[in-house]
Amino acid sequence: MTTRDFNRLSTYINNAYGIKMPAEKKVMLECRLQKRLTALHMSSYKEYCDFLFSDEGLEQEMLHMIDVVTTNKTDFFREPSHFEFLTQYALPELCEGWNGYKEINVWSAGCSSGEEVYTLAMVLNEFTEMVNGTSYRITGTDVSLTMLSKAAEAVYTEERIADIPMWLRKKYLLRSKDRAKQTIRINAALRGRTEFKRLNLMDEDYDVYGKFDVIFCRNVLIYFDKTTQCTVINKLAEKLKPGGYLFLGHSETVSNMQLSLVPVQPTILKKLSHQ
Ligand SMILES: C[S@@+](CC[C@H](N)C(=O)[O-])C[C@H]1O[C@@H](n2cnc3c(N)ncnc32)[C@H](O)[C@@H]1O
Repeated sequence: MTTRDFNRLSTYINNAYGIKMPAEKKVMLECRLQKRLTALHMSSYKEYCDFLFSDEGLEQEMLHMIDVVTTNKTDFFREPSHFEFLTQYALPELCEGWNGYKEINVWSAGCSSGEEVYTLAMVLNEFTEMVNGTSYRITGTDVSLTMLSKAAEAVYTEERIADIPMWLRKKYLLRSKDRAKQTIRINAALRGRTEFKRLNLMDEDYDVYGKFDVIFCRNVLIYFDKTTQCTVINKLAEKLKPGGYLFLGHSETVSNMQLSLVPVQPTILKKLSHQ
């Protein structure tokens, strides 16, 4: 790929999706885009870039391009201390003193193939079963349509579920009738509490329903520069209810950022009740 084509792509990816694309990532970008060149029967990155930035390409190819450019690594019960904090502190506190019906509204922003959403669903289902008058809904958003369709399908290979405790597997996972497939599906009760939609965290307005008690945005901001991280966190904060919590990935630090949220742990931020 020529420097000119790399610069066109990296500038676009950074401006439109927030993802940093420094010169060291050129080889990685070439490898990832190779799939698209093959799919489109193109023989050079120049041909690909010319198509991508044409009116037709911007309409048709951009979604495929961002699919291959994003890193989608995820797991069930990834960074488990967050789920312990949620069960032991955040959820009891959010429901404290509540007389009547409370629906806990949760958003997984950058949900990839859905493992984080269904982990949250298992945790929230367990909690709301124990606390009268509570229920929950979870929205998963991502910029990758391929990941969103995997998330909505909720089918995973058996090797992916190793980190789910056995008793939760028995309660919430359905084995494929075709044993040779070695896949499981999240049960209908949990799937019914979730919804998925495309949302780019670089969007001016976040088109999500209502305000949230809890937002997970983990291992997404790590790909953004510091200024963009700060802008996105403050925009997520606007979508939190007073007293709500934002969880970031364990390697995402908020030091030296001017934020409207208060850190209660290095990667757990809270919107104060009077905000
Ligand atoms: C590494 S995965 C993290 C998945 C999950 N949150 C976790 O921690 O396991 C990062 C996800 O962020 C998504 N992403 C990257 N840039 C985004 C953007 N601008 N808007 C929304 N999602 C984005 C990617 O498509 C990818 O699925």
